[in-house]
Amino acid sequence: MPRFKTILVTGGAGYIGSHCVVDLLNAGHDVIAIDNFANAVGDEEGSPALKRAEQITGKNIVFYEADLLNKPQINDIFDKHPIDCVIHFAALKAVGESMQQPLLYYQNNLLGMLNLLEIMRSHECYQMVFSSSCTVYGEPEYLPITETHPTGSITNVYGRTKYFIEEMLKDLSAADEKWNIISLRYFNPVGAHPSGLIGEDPTKEFTNLMPFMAQVALGKKPVLTVFGNDYNTPDGTGIRDYIHVMDLASGHVAALNFLGSNQVRLKVYNLGTGRGVSVKELVEVFERVTKTKIPLKYVDRRLGDITAMWADASLAKEELGWSTKLTIEEMCKYKTGCGIIKPFNITQ
Ligand code: NAD
Ligand code: WQD
Repeated sequence: MPRFKTILVTGGAGYIGSHCVVDLLNAGHDVIAIDNFANAVGDEEGSPALKRAEQITGKNIVFYEADLLNKPQINDIFDKHPIDCVIHFAALKAVGESMQQPLLYYQNNLLGMLNLLEIMRSHECYQMVFSSSCTVYGEPEYLPITETHPTGSITNVYGRTKYFIEEMLKDLSAADEKWNIISLRYFNPVGAHPSGLIGEDPTKEFTNLMPFMAQVALGKKPVLTVFGNDYNTPDGTGIRDYIHVMDLASGHVAALNFLGSNQVRLKVYNLGTGRGVSVKELVEVFERVTKTKIPLKYVDRRLGDITAMWADASLAKEELGWSTKLTIEEMCKYKTGCGIIKPFNITQ
């Protein structure tokens, strides 16, 4: 019997949320999921991704199409259900869009969080796991990045919303000892559930490497544009810490368990593998695993891109008892960013 029984998952129909819900159900939690379908597919029956999560687990999810900016709607959900803890995924996350529409991002991400925290407090629910990002570190001063690395020198609005929320959480938890919050700084989540039933399926345009590469493999895009091969890295391409979305999901269950038996006020953990992989390396593994040739076109660096970033994930290992298990090969096994996910012709 988990210490927290009923978990509210905001942004539950989204990429990471839908995968995390699978692990939460498997761990014996009751899940209430909400989403406004800003970046997830929705139909008259709710969320197809969450229907498939039910299919995978054989368990039910209570789903509400609801918007965090609509306070009465969220308040009603808290009135109806005895929510023990919130996992807060809901946010807008497109870096380019955030630069063009800063007010949309500040309103959705900051006001959405403020509304949620106020409603939680009024219902005496003080437990939260928050989706933060490695983006809060900006250009790394050293590698691998520990949680004590300075934050805040960020060049995009999306990243600043994560930074501002973390600052808000610091103030809140300092002011009231009842709050018990873990902020998880994800590195680069990729991959899909091994069933192939759920994966990354956004409704907005995306620019991330893995879903883009999958689109090229599917013939939906002609070529993968590699942004820069003149970086100061062994092969000249950018380096990131790609983490399988199911490892990320298990990190949330570990965080919940930790909150269930510790009063921390606010703790921050990196969720990454601790290993940096270049664009070229990822393409090579993807080609081998999927037996698909990815045509490449090298162009100039993308504005605002960082040379290299990977996590020191030892704190999560020591304190949450969590570490990643899945390899880069596993991360490349399923088509992502292309609607219903089907396995590629796997080599093994
Ligand atoms: P996603 O867009 O797939 O999921 C977010 C979900 O939140 C979407 O389904 C969207 O419709 C919903 N949503 C947005 N605003 C909402 C609102 N006001 N009310 C209700 N629902 C709302 O993104 P994801 O990749 O699953 O990311 C989940 C979280 O993790 C986000 O907070 C994101 O910033 C963070 N994160 C993502 C990455 C990444 O690369 N995917 C990396 C670091 C952090
Ligand atoms: C990875 C690498 C690109 C696309 C973004 C957000 C960040 C965080 C994680 C949420 C880089 C290269 C990419 C392409 C390429 N998200 N690339 N061709 O830039 O690390 O971070 O996702 O918090 O906030 O900014 O991820 O997948 O876009 O890029 O060569 O078509 O792939 O230059 O080196 P990134 P990404």
